[in-house]
Amino acid sequence: MDNILLIGFMGVGKGTIARAYAKEFGAFAIDTDDLIESLENRKIKTIFEEEGEPYFRELEQKCAKWISKSVKNSIISTGGGFFKVKNINKIGTIVLLDSSFEAILKRIQEHPNAAKKLAKRPLFKSPEMAKKLYKERVAQYKEIADIVINVEKKEPTEIAHQIQKLLS
Ligand code: S3P
Repeated sequence: MDNILLIGFMGVGKGTIARAYAKEFGAFAIDTDDLIESLENRKIKTIFEEEGEPYFRELEQKCAKWISKSVKNSIISTGGGFFKVKNINKIGTIVLLDSSFEAILKRIQEHPNAAKKLAKRPLFKSPEMAKKLYKERVAQYKEIADIVINVEKKEPTEIAHQIQKLLS
């Protein structure tokens, strides 16, 4: 299979859905934020605090280059801003996990680890800040996606099957 690249806003469930897909279809799931954290041996939040956002975006570009060269037959979840890397379509089929901002906020707030989920995301300091970013990005996500899947009120396994069906 071609790589599948999951894009979409913070908190939409990219990592959860990638892992559900991996389990259902026997693929490996990797995550760009995890790759960046291992490359730097520090958390995304710390990278933002110590180096600033432009440095983090450079790391995303570096990560994209490495994935293009070295990763095959995998499902890849990405950070919410990863879609801006150059040559993203060289990585694989781009699947947008789409959701209203309200549903994303609800998903995060209802999570048992909500405080932790918010604390690790420097660009989700408040719902207002995140909503502004969502509005800026929503059309851009749709523009670069090969496939758009609405994920609201669906279980990760159901979405995984939907991805597989749409790509086969
Ligand atoms: C970001 C999203 C985060 C992480 C970083 C920046 C963004 O990933 O990459 O905090 O620009 O939207 P998640 O989408 O997994 O929260």
